[in-house]
Order: sequence, then C-alpha cells, then structure tokens
Amino acid sequence: MSSDNPGDRIQAAVSGGGPEPVGRDRTPSPARGGEHMEPRYGRAFVDGERTLVDRTIFSDPVLHRRELGRVFARSWLFLAHESQFERPGDFFTTFMGADPVIVTRQRDGGYRVLLNSCRHRGMRVCRYDSGNARAFTCSYHGWSYGIDGSLIAVPEEKAAYGDRLDRSAWGLAAAPRVETFKGLVFGTWDTEIPPLPEYLGDMAYYLDIVLDPDGKGTVALPGVHRWRMRGNWKLAAEQFAGDSYHVLSTHLSAVIAEASLRDDELRVPTTGFQVAMSGGHGLGAFDGSEDFDYWRTAGFPEDVCAWMAARADRAERHLGRARARDAVLIHGNVFPNLSLLPIRSSLRVWHPRGPDALEVHSWSIVPADAPPFVRRALLLDYGRHFGPSGTWEQDDSEQWHYSTADGDGFITRGLPLHYRMGHGRAPRTSFPEFPGSIDGLFSEANQRCFYERWSELMAVPHPAESRNGLPGAADGAVSGTGPAPAVTT
Ligand code: FES
Ligand SMILES: [Fe+2]
Repeated sequence: MSSDNPGDRIQAAVSGGGPEPVGRDRTPSPARGGEHMEPRYGRAFVDGERTLVDRTIFSDPVLHRRELGRVFARSWLFLAHESQFERPGDFFTTFMGADPVIVTRQRDGGYRVLLNSCRHRGMRVCRYDSGNARAFTCSYHGWSYGIDGSLIAVPEEKAAYGDRLDRSAWGLAAAPRVETFKGLVFGTWDTEIPPLPEYLGDMAYYLDIVLDPDGKGTVALPGVHRWRMRGNWKLAAEQFAGDSYHVLSTHLSAVIAEASLRDDELRVPTTGFQVAMSGGHGLGAFDGSEDFDYWRTAGFPEDVCAWMAARADRAERHLGRARARDAVLIHGNVFPNLSLLPIRSSLRVWHPRGPDALEVHSWSIVPADAPPFVRRALLLDYGRHFGPSGTWEQDDSEQWHYSTADGDGFITRGLPLHYRMGHGRAPRTSFPEFPGSIDGLFSEANQRCFYERWSELMAVPHPAESRNGLPGAADGAVSGTGPAPAVTT
C-alpha cells in the first residue's frame, strides 16, 4: 500500500491494507465479553470509528520491532536540554527508539547526534551518562572517534591494516537532522520530515507557556533521573497526552496525604479541558482564574508564591492574558514520547526497552532567572511527586505494568480496550484563542488523536524493514515506500 494521503492510510489500515496482526485469532467467541474487534477490521489495531484499541499493541514483540522503524525512525525525538551543554565536547547519552546515541556539543556551538555503537564490533563507545570529552574511545579494541563522530585513531593501524583502512568511511553514524526549540534538542533519522516547528504545529503555542512564558526561558536543573520500569511506552505517553481522569483514583491516596499534611480541605480540581492537536500531540489544563494559583495549592512558602505571582504578571505582558491566565497546564505529550508536567516542573521522555519495559529520563525544568530559594522549592516539589521515588510516579508505574503484562494472556489478547470517553461530544468553544480541538477535562479525545497518528505511521512500512529481516514487509504482506533510512557519517 502506498499513499500520500494520511486519511487513506488510516482507512487502509482499518480495512485490511495495514500491518498484519501477530499471533492473534480474531474470531468472535462466546467466551469474550463485551465488544470485540470485528473481523472486518481484521488488520486494524486501532478502530477509530468505534474507539477501540487492540491491546496487543502494548505487548507484541514483532509489532514493537516495526514500531521502532515506522514511528520512532520517522518522528522528531526529544534528546536533551540545551542547558546540559555549556562547552564544546559536553555530551549526554540517550536513545532514539532502541538505538543508543550520544548528543555532543560541537566547537561551532551546534550539536551532533552520534549512534553510540562502534563501527568495528558494535561495542557501545560511550558508557557514561554525561560529561565532557575530547574524543570517544571504544573500550574493546581502542578505536577513537572525535566529538563529530569521525574515526580519528586506530591502535596499531599500520600493523593491523596497512594502508587499507579508509578511516573517513568508518566514523560513527550520525542523525542527519538536529534542531532545537526553546532549549529542547531534538533529532531525527528521517530526512524528509517537516522542520521541527512545523512538526510541533499547535503544540508550539503551548510549549511557549511551559518553556518561555516571560521571555527569559527555562533551564534544566543539573542531574537527570534515569530509571527503568515495566510497561509499554505508549501507555505512559497517552496518559500524559490526555488522561486527567486517572488522578481521581490512581493518585487519590497521595492527594489525601498531601491535603492532611497541609491541614487543608481535600480539593481535586475537576474544571479544565483537554486539547487534541494534529500530529498526535495533546495536553490537559485546569481553567485558570484569579483565585486559582497552583503554587498556593501546592503549598509553596509565601516568598516562593510571591516570586511565581510576579512571573505570572510578566508572562501576561509577554504572551497575553489568555496564555498566561486562562489555562494552568497540567500535563502534555509531544508525539511520540516526550511528556510534560508543567505544574510539577517536570519533563520526561519514555524510551522503549522492548514492548513491555521502558527507560525514563526525567528533568526538573525551572525558570532560567529563578533565585536559589525558588529553584530549591520547585526541585523538592518535583522530586516529591515525580522521579523514581516520587509518590505520584509510583502510582502511575503500577498501572502501566499490569495493563501491559496482563494484556499478553490468551483471553485478554482478544478483548479490545475502551477509548470512548467524550466521543461524539462537540468541541468546546469557550477558548477561541487556543488552537487545537478542545474537550472537557475528562475526555479521551487526546488519546484517540495519539493513536490516530500512531496508526498513520504504522500503516506504512519502513523501507529498512526488509533489510532488518522483519516479517511483514519482507513476506509481501504489505508494501510501501517512504524515506530511506538516513544516516550520515
Ligand atoms: S568494538 Fe570498538 S574498537 Fe573493536
Ligand atoms: Fe498520573
């Protein structure tokens, strides 16, 4: 199947032209309760019309291999924050999908994103989380690469290779495109993807509120939390895109505990909205008002509240009243795997580590001009809620673990999941300034938007799938064209 029209691709995916389901019997059975995915949607994993999602997308290993090419190799992927790189040679190691990469600051101030895999035997060249380097030397046989990825030294080169090693052809592979947005560094393997601002689309409007509300910008506090957990990355991403609903149950014990600590009445705001955006991005917000200062509900000390209130005044002058006052951004997700929790100063990325595990990289993002007492308060607030020991973080990870692991049962695999909240409801028009499609706080419109984008991408095989020996493309079940896998050395 090949089509330039994303709508055609979705239709093809739901009517039989998409990827073959894996290890899956879709024959309706009396043993199945409720709704099932009809055979007419036999090759669909997401039934947008009936708002069902096939739960094998969270556990199937072959589907996961395809996802790495069709979704991750075709998207802009968040890698790091610019404030992590002060000098040439500063580096940070991370992932693009399952591929390990090194982000390095160059002498000209730009960035290179190098595949962290030695060209000799594939050893991981850099095994540090971050630091400063003049070169990256592989521990296995000692090949050395410059910060631009070029192969600059080979031990005993003359004795080993004579003059037959063309070093210029054996540098580290590098992502062909790297761009930044308001301090965030993104890379992609796709040479034909739109420029980053176009890819972000309407989400850029909201990222301004998070990353640069008053023209002074934001910085990442030193230190990046990294940890692994069980669960499929999409469950985390979709929750951050649009799930305010889970707070009432998943986090209720934490909400009660915090209220009792402050000797405060229990308050869980239920007025707000979700914004679904083309490209699969989504976010949720509380309705803003003069008397709702989230930093007061968070229990910050009076001096911190005063500083934050002054910043909100500056934001109103810089971005206008609507963006500064009418929305208190709670959560969001930039497709595919960059998530935000603006009210907890948190930004994180979900790296898939197989279909049923993920590695989280999490930053605390604070105003660039925040004095030390404000930075400290925001950092403590972030750490108490999120990060590996955060109470709210642990609440969430428990849900993703069981949703993923128990979806791989013989019977559970046949039962689709329900994504119908708010379906058919007319979009809200109360915020005409805000771009995107707006629904109430409790809605799954953003999740549906996320999976619509996911389905578009999954319906088109990546040309490297045959080369990589993945079933589906190689066996002729589907065919398609797309940008060739692009690496530069
Ligand atoms: S694997 Fe890196 S030098 Fe041999
Ligand atoms: Fe949560």
